[in-house]
Formats: sequence, C-alpha cells, structure tokens
Amino acid sequence: MPTKFKCVRGTKDILPDEVGAYGRIEDISKKIFTAYGYRQIRTPIIETRDLFMRSLGKDSEVVGKQMFTIERGDDVFVLRPEATAGVMRAYLENNLDKKEGFVKLYYIGPMFRAERPQKGRLRQFHHIGVEAIGSNEASLDIEVISLACSMLAGFGIIGFVVKINSLGCRDDKNKFAALLRSALQDKHDKLCADCAERLKHNVFRILDCKNDECRKIVSGIGIARSQYLCADCMSHFDFVLEGLDALGIKYQDTITLVRGLDYYTKTVFEIMHPDLGSQDAIGAGGRYDNLAAEIGESPVGAIGFAFGMERIILVAPEEKTGDNAGLVYIISLGQAAEKKSLKLLADLRKEDIGCDTDYSRRSLKGALRAAADLGASYVVIIGDNELNKGIATLKDMESGEQREIKQGHLIEELKYITARVRKPVW
Ligand code: HAM
Repeated sequence: MPTKFKCVRGTKDILPDEVGAYGRIEDISKKIFTAYGYRQIRTPIIETRDLFMRSLGKDSEVVGKQMFTIERGDDVFVLRPEATAGVMRAYLENNLDKKEGFVKLYYIGPMFRAERPQKGRLRQFHHIGVEAIGSNEASLDIEVISLACSMLAGFGIIGFVVKINSLGCRDDKNKFAALLRSALQDKHDKLCADCAERLKHNVFRILDCKNDECRKIVSGIGIARSQYLCADCMSHFDFVLEGLDALGIKYQDTITLVRGLDYYTKTVFEIMHPDLGSQDAIGAGGRYDNLAAEIGESPVGAIGFAFGMERIILVAPEEKTGDNAGLVYIISLGQAAEKKSLKLLADLRKEDIGCDTDYSRRSLKGALRAAADLGASYVVIIGDNELNKGIATLKDMESGEQREIKQGHLIEELKYITARVRKPVW
C-alpha cells in the first residue's frame, strides 16, 4: 500500500530478510569477543554536544559538519556520531577507572552522521566496536588489531588490507603537523580550496583529500617517522609491528594514514576492502591515550576500533543457511485438523522447534508456496484423510520427498530431523 511518508534520506528500514545478516555478524562477533575477554556496554544514543567537541575536536569533519543536533532550552545534545567518546565518558563517570582499572568493552548500535548519502555511506549506520581502556601496553595494540582480523575471518571476509601508522604522543603529533605544514606550504596554491583552508586549521585532513592534484602532492611529501616520533613512541610502534609479524598479520605501513578524529595518539589503523569502491574503509581505530584527560582529569591509556556493519555486510559472503532453517510449517485442511495443528504448534514450540502455520485459509498449493517463501525446511500436512488414519504427511522441502508418519511419532521425528538443519546458536 502506498504511503506519502518515506524514511529519512540516508536511513533505511532493515526488513526481516536483512535482519539475519546483522544478527549473523553480531552472533559471530559475540563469540569472538568472549574468547578475547570483552564484555558488552550500552551507552545512550544522545550525548551532550560538548563531549564530541572536546574529544573529536571542533575542526574535525564529524563535529564541524555531520552532527545531528537537538536543542532544548539551554541544553544542546547530539545523536552520537561514534561511540568511543561516550564509552570513555561512561568509564570515568561510573568510576570504572577506580573500580576495575583495565576494562575490555564492546558495543553494537546505531550511529548518526549528517553526510551526503551514497553506497556504503548512511546517515544512520551501525558500529560494532571495542574499547580496551586502562593500559598503555603495546601488546594490547597487537591484541586489538588481531581481534579485528579474527572478526573479519569469522565473517568469511577475505582480501582486506590493514593500513597502520603511528601519530606519536601529543608532542610528536604537533611535530608531525608542523612538518606537514612546512612541506605543503610552498604548494599552497596548487591545493584545492578546501585543503588550502585545512593547511591553517587541520593539516592532517589534507592527507585524506580525494582531489587528484592534492593526492599527487601528498604522495610526494617524503616525511620519515624518525623526524617526528620520540624514542618511546618509536619503540612502542616497532613492538606493535613486530607483534603483528609474529602473529602473521599482514599490514601496510602507511605514514599518510592519520584518521580524522582529534583524540588519536600513537598507533592508528584502518581496514580497507577493494570491493567497496570510494567508501572503502570497513573499520578503523587506534590509541587515544589523551582522551580521558580531555574529558576528565588525567590520562588513561586506551585503544579500540569500530567496524561499519553495513560495509561488513556489503563484502561478507552471504550465508547459505537461511534464517528459517529448521522451520516446520503446518498446513491443516478443515476445522478439525486446524484444532489438531494448534496443539501440534504448541507442542513443537515447547520442544524449541521453530514452527508456523497458515493464517490466511490458503489452498494446499498456496500454503505450500507460503512455506517455501518462508524458507521452511519441513511441512506437515493434516487433512481429514490424515485425521481418520491417525497420521500426518511430512514433506522435506529441500528434496521434495513426502511420507506418511504416525501422529504419535511426529514430535520425536521432527526433533531429530530439524536438529540436523538448524543453525547453531552461540
Ligand atoms: P570511524 O572511522 O569514523 O571511526 O568509523 C568506523 C567505521 O564506521 C568506518 O571505517 C566505516 O566502516 C563506518 N562508517 C563511518 N561512517 C559511516 C557512514 N556514514 N555510513 C556507513 N558506515 C560508516 C570511529 O568512529 C571511531 N570511534 C573508531 C574507534 C573506536 N577508534 C577507537 N575506538
């Protein structure tokens, strides 16, 4: 039926057929999170605007252009554009720094950015991410990157590329920015208008510019990490790369990878997939050792990452077993059979067997089509003939095979045959 209302541009309805893909990513991730010792956290979808101005930075693209703002009286809230700042706020506000010290947290949920929508770029999208807070150890960076790669392997994604860099501590980062500024200053008039402006306020963003001329200039910059990393940050980064080598994790050491959010320090990484086109980052993350000091009192070592679930779904192979694998569909013909089938549905559900029936009084042919559309694995047909003989007709929807079975044996038989096709539940 038509409606004059449409969902907001850049948002989308996730229909029952698509929900399975999200559920599958979540199920696999939760299993891997448990193996790595992560626990779930759920923070609010609205936060104060100031939280993001302080953490992501006023000059970041996200804060400057992409936040959905809600003003109520003197309060200004935003729909969260990302979760790291909120998780750190929750860690400090709930005294987890004092109660637990080191925590490994994961989250799954919607984020909002007022971007120009295109393939893989939405205004409401979903992050599945982790934050490990309370440690400065380089070995944690290795674990977090290895967790990201394990998740991608778990989703069945191949062909991704991990790009990695170190921005160093706050002083190093300032040095890096100054080096970039002086390397780009004399090419000022060749940069695009946006980058000419970025040279003054946010020189790192020039490295992400998609303009051909800017990319050409950036590729010839020729800055070495030894020019801006202090000895501590250099040995931290060396340790991380050696750890990744030891685990057999392939990466591209990329000095131009800087990330667009202010809170990053030391290790930063991004995971790209060539099948995604222009929006090719499936996930990204890094250390943010100064974020706690920005929004609280003192620094706390921390690192994390987030995957964009919609982009994961675009590149993950489709699952062969449908959502309704194992579903039993009951077709009853006539009123007496209908009563019998209601009891059968209740008994099957008690046994944890997914089942459904036709509530539209379709013909046998129509009901069989409905069962096939639902992806049911088995159909049980009960009509007058079956009732009189105390049997049911059992149809295997995959092979098309049909056989008669005594009603008294039906539950046991369905328990046995559906167990073989049902999806494992983690
Ligand atoms: P981010 O790079 O802004 O990082 O986002 C992470 C991922 O979210 C991106 O790589 C992309 O896959 C997905 N994503 C971002 N924007 C959109 C969009 N408009 N539509 C669809 N997908 C999108 C962060 O948000 C950091 N909080 C990650 C992090 C966690 N760093 C440390 N901990």
